[in-house]
Amino acid sequence: MRIPPEKIDEIRNAADIVDTIGAVVKLKKRGKNFIGLCPFHTEKTPSFNVSQDRQMYHCFGCGVGGNVITFVMEYEKLTFVEAVRSLAERLGIALPAATDQDAGLASEQEQLYQVMRLAGKYFYTALTESAEGKPALDYLKDRGFTPETMKTFGLGYAPNSWDGFVKHATENGFATAHLEKAGLARKRPDGTYYDYFRGRAMFPIFSTAGKVIGFGARKLREDDPLAKYINSPETPIYNKSRVLYGLYHAKDAVREADSAILVEGYADLLAVFQAGIKNIVASSGTALTVDQIQLISRSTKNITIVYDADSAGSKAALRGVDLILASDLDVRVASLPEGDDPDSFVRKNGGAAFQALLERSVSFIDFISQAYEKQGKLSTPEGQALAVRTIVQSIASMKDELKQNFYIKQVAEKYKIYESTLFRELERLRGDTRRREGGAPNAAPPRQSAPVQARTSEAPLPTDERNLVHAMLEGGAPVITEIFAQIVLEDFTHPAARSLAGFLQARALKEEPLDPSALVNDLDDPAQKKLVSELLFSKYQVRLDDGTDFPQADPRKIAKDSIVVLRKNALTRMMKENQLEMKSAISRGEDGIPYLERDRQMSAELKQLEQGAHPAESGLAS
Ligand code: UTP
Ligand code: MN
Repeated sequence: MRIPPEKIDEIRNAADIVDTIGAVVKLKKRGKNFIGLCPFHTEKTPSFNVSQDRQMYHCFGCGVGGNVITFVMEYEKLTFVEAVRSLAERLGIALPAATDQDAGLASEQEQLYQVMRLAGKYFYTALTESAEGKPALDYLKDRGFTPETMKTFGLGYAPNSWDGFVKHATENGFATAHLEKAGLARKRPDGTYYDYFRGRAMFPIFSTAGKVIGFGARKLREDDPLAKYINSPETPIYNKSRVLYGLYHAKDAVREADSAILVEGYADLLAVFQAGIKNIVASSGTALTVDQIQLISRSTKNITIVYDADSAGSKAALRGVDLILASDLDVRVASLPEGDDPDSFVRKNGGAAFQALLERSVSFIDFISQAYEKQGKLSTPEGQALAVRTIVQSIASMKDELKQNFYIKQVAEKYKIYESTLFRELERLRGDTRRREGGAPNAAPPRQSAPVQARTSEAPLPTDERNLVHAMLEGGAPVITEIFAQIVLEDFTHPAARSLAGFLQARALKEEPLDPSALVNDLDDPAQKKLVSELLFSKYQVRLDDGTDFPQADPRKIAKDSIVVLRKNALTRMMKENQLEMKSAISRGEDGIPYLERDRQMSAELKQLEQGAHPAESGLAS
């Protein structure tokens, strides 16, 4: 079906070329234009230019160029008509439909946009021009919002009546069924409709293209028994997990700064934006989603989370960190003083102080360390190990191996741990993720570790490692806990023993059942299954000096000796590694003293072990 020329103009005017191209090419502002790496040829330095004023693009490298429609045609390999349709869909502009079904869909969406627009205007007018809106206006003013901010973000007031908006919309020709579908009205059993939002301050939520698609409505009086914020329900045009509050207003600033600040609340965003820091978006009440991160990634790969200092805030921040890292974006964390949210902080201290707080933001590594430090956990080796493991877990969620290596180096330096130890942990976690995600059986094996594992798993299981895993299986949670109070997983050298021990440790920590039959069902690695059944079907056979077998020894007794052996072996390995690293450091002209110091500590520990003193004389039966 033919698209009328005026429609094509409308679409070209509505589709901002920087947004459209920015969604797929990372653009940076350079003078009046934006530049980036050309998506149509391979280049290392950017020669692809996009002009916002002229709504055109051009590549000085390969000579391509055109307007927003030709870009979509070239980039998505579409015909002219297909490209126009694709753009129209993204912008929510109705087109003469290719089929009747499309016609229905497009016109319904268009109607919903229109009724939301009407609602936005209605609430804004009620706030700024009606007598009834005065208390709401005072409320927003008291909170420090300027008339300009209210206008920019279209803040409003929903009058405290049952049918103010329903009437207004009906008079303007909208069907009540559409109001309900837009989440602006509700149906009573008798078939009449009433307003969804009543007596509240209204915060319109805009789509990335700047259309009103939903509302957050804040209560104005403390004695309002309903939730502090009532939000629009999900509708055909409003999908909460795919929207970020403020993104429409922030995206130019995000691109310019090449970073986005992420806060939680509506008011937080407005206060910071008003203070002149405009590269800010809000997740507004929902836990951050992958789709929301994807939206940000169109404009920048750098996110700074600003979170409330309480424990809920830090938990949400931790979760956000992993999600952002998994999307291959970079993340930093800035924390507010106890009791403040971004809004209250900016109001008390001003924009410059907020900027300073951002400048003091820390990498996710330091953020996790600080979280553990605050809980007093970094003072013990166990706490440190836990912190390091949490950090490595975050690193394991990244997809970019180069970045992983880079961060592992940082952790190694910070905690004075061997990189090789961290890499082993990383490989183990990567393996876990793959298994959990049910990775295809023909998926590429983990780089590096695969051949190594293949070779060593054929090696016989060292007796002491076998004894320990056996003791864990027989003794259950108490024995597992005691064993791991004295050795670490990395002390196991045999892959099957190590992975089984790690599995048992995790299960004991989560207080999951450890009886073998429950266990075997949850093991999906055949090598582990085999080991479990093999161990369970062999009794302890301790051969005494006179050649007789001593059946059914106490698992704890056997564990005790094996722990010492594993510790000794691990120390010996680490000392060798340390000596090698010292040699190479000295050959690079670096200081050898730290290595010597470490060597001294380790040999002291080794001596102790050899003299029979236990690493940490604990409850294991002697
Ligand atoms: P907060 O409880 O931190 O509120 O919720 P706030 O943003 O500081 O609100 P003010 O300053 O008291 O006005 C953070 C965000 O969670 C969502 C909102 O998006 C809010 O901005 N929220 C909160 C809801 O959706 N419903 C609620 O009942 C509460
Ligand atoms: Mn607040």
